[in-house]
Amino acid sequence: MTTAANSTAANSTGAKRLDLCATGEVAPGTALKVEIEDLALAVFNVDGEFFVTDDLCTHGPGSLSEGYIDGDVVECNFHNGQFNIRTGEVVSPPCMVPAKTYPVTVIDGRVTIEV
Ligand code: FES
Repeated sequence: MTTAANSTAANSTGAKRLDLCATGEVAPGTALKVEIEDLALAVFNVDGEFFVTDDLCTHGPGSLSEGYIDGDVVECNFHNGQFNIRTGEVVSPPCMVPAKTYPVTVIDGRVTIEV
């Protein structure tokens, strides 16, 4: 599933908070692709905790939001490389480069990140 989000706000430090989706849009054990500004992101719900990575696999054209999720590991649906959803670290090859992660804050039931 893909959703487009467009709500943005700048805070006092100049960092920008992006509002990605409602927590209820991402069931535990699933992921949602969110496209916002020039980013394509995967929002993961791991047992009620939310994590955000780049959606594009670092190894090729795989979409991590469409990957197979087992606990806090996502397996790319393209060549079956695996990443830790919490840290972005590679768990299993052929991926070599960690997935980029974003700090998540849930505000009023919304999943937000700071960029
Ligand atoms: S594109 Fe993801 S493992 Fe190759």
